[in-house]
Amino acid sequence: MRMTVIGTGYLGATHAACMAELGHEVLGVDVDESKIKSLQAGQVPFFEPGLPEVLERNIAAGRLDFTTDYAQAAQFANVHFLGVGTPQRHGSFAADLTYVRAVIEDLVPKLTGSHIIFGKSTVPVGTARDLQELANSLAGPDTHVEIAWNPEFLREGYAVQDTITPDRIVLGVREEASRAEEVAREVYAQALEASTPLLVTDLQTAELVKVSANAFLATKISFINAVAEICEIAGGDVVALADAIGLDERIGRKFLGAGLGFGGGCLPKDIRAFMARAGELGADQALSFLREVDAINMRRRDRMVDVAKRALGGSVLGRRVTVLGCAFKPNSDDVRDSPALSVAGSLSLAGAAVTVYDPEGMDNARRVFPTLAYATSASKALQDTELVILATEWQEFRDLDPAAAGELVAARHIIDGRNVLDVAAWQAAGWTVEALGRNL
Ligand SMILES: NC(=O)c1ccc[n+]([C@@H]2O[C@H](COP(=O)([O-])OP(=O)(O)OC[C@H]3O[C@@H](n4cnc5c(N)ncnc54)[C@H](O)[C@@H]3O)[C@@H](O)[C@H]2O)c1
Repeated sequence: MRMTVIGTGYLGATHAACMAELGHEVLGVDVDESKIKSLQAGQVPFFEPGLPEVLERNIAAGRLDFTTDYAQAAQFANVHFLGVGTPQRHGSFAADLTYVRAVIEDLVPKLTGSHIIFGKSTVPVGTARDLQELANSLAGPDTHVEIAWNPEFLREGYAVQDTITPDRIVLGVREEASRAEEVAREVYAQALEASTPLLVTDLQTAELVKVSANAFLATKISFINAVAEICEIAGGDVVALADAIGLDERIGRKFLGAGLGFGGGCLPKDIRAFMARAGELGADQALSFLREVDAINMRRRDRMVDVAKRALGGSVLGRRVTVLGCAFKPNSDDVRDSPALSVAGSLSLAGAAVTVYDPEGMDNARRVFPTLAYATSASKALQDTELVILATEWQEFRDLDPAAAGELVAARHIIDGRNVLDVAAWQAAGWTVEALGRNL
């Protein structure tokens, strides 16, 4: 099949390359010229394991190309995926739908014939219906445009695998005269043959599935972090507690990792947009608990700064602190709303001399926080530091040798912000270990 993918960020570039990998002919479209130039040259402008190989292979095979030209996109295919950003609107909790609407406004007047646009961006419920109205108002007399919603569940760090072999495909279709399911079955034929569940719903349900999934995951993380707050005061151990409750298969251990909490370009803005939309629908009470989920999450960052201050005798002014990690999670270079970078930034603003090291996130972090010092390796970051904070659980940091690390630092004091270190091994190597939600 021929298709375009509009918006070639984390979601779109991955979707475009993976659709080509499945044998489709794909044109990726973005308004960011530098991003398109880089993708055309076979370079992924962000870190995503496995994606560079898929991109290169499919460009070489002639199945994948990129453009900034909407006229070319309109000519290229009758199937379009929409994957532009839906960030938090400035000064509000709501999602900013400017980019999503701009795609329809730029694309639809250029279309002729019959087209389907599959929305993949995460949007407030009701958006697809509004976009259908917008498309109807812009389409020429002989042009038919159907908007369907096909939310994306990929996880950064596993995006290629999640796109090629998803655990489910959700498709929201309009009530009247929809061709979306038939077309989607062709697009995703390979996954469907492998018995991937396809759930066809109305548009509203498909939109809600995505935000509900993220709200649930955020709630699960904040639940364990709320319990961590109690453990800190009452003298419990949140890791042992999570292991114990996680063995109940109704609960499950996944997403019960207590620590610095969630961040990134999705969960925080998605739960806020969900709350905002509930308010617009007159149902704000239904999701008011998400305010608490958000608040618990943000408190973890403050708590980490407090623990760091206490570790250094009450003030970090002029003290040397190393923060390991600045990406919002491992296997990603994404620093959007990163808890790690937030902690590094807060400590720096409180007067600490902060050195950051992250295997992939430093170029992005430097743009957000140019005033932090960025080391070129973990060893260099540890050199002569008075306090170490493990803020993103990269494997490289889990694998650090406490004895060797101890030779580098000025003081053997580490705060495990992700509860991933072998505490006994670090203590045996002479380290003072602190962790969120534990009394060690
Ligand atoms: N990143 C993820 O893991 C992930 C997972 C699931 C869903 N999503 C959702 O997917 C959407 C995109 O997220 P992302 O992380 O890829 O964002 P991103 O910021 O990495 O990418 C968005 C891209 O859209 C481009 N763009 C903006 N306006 C455009 C226009 N008018 N025409 C063409 N391109 C335009 C931008 O230049 C940018 O390259 C969001 O709604 C997000 O919530 C993201």
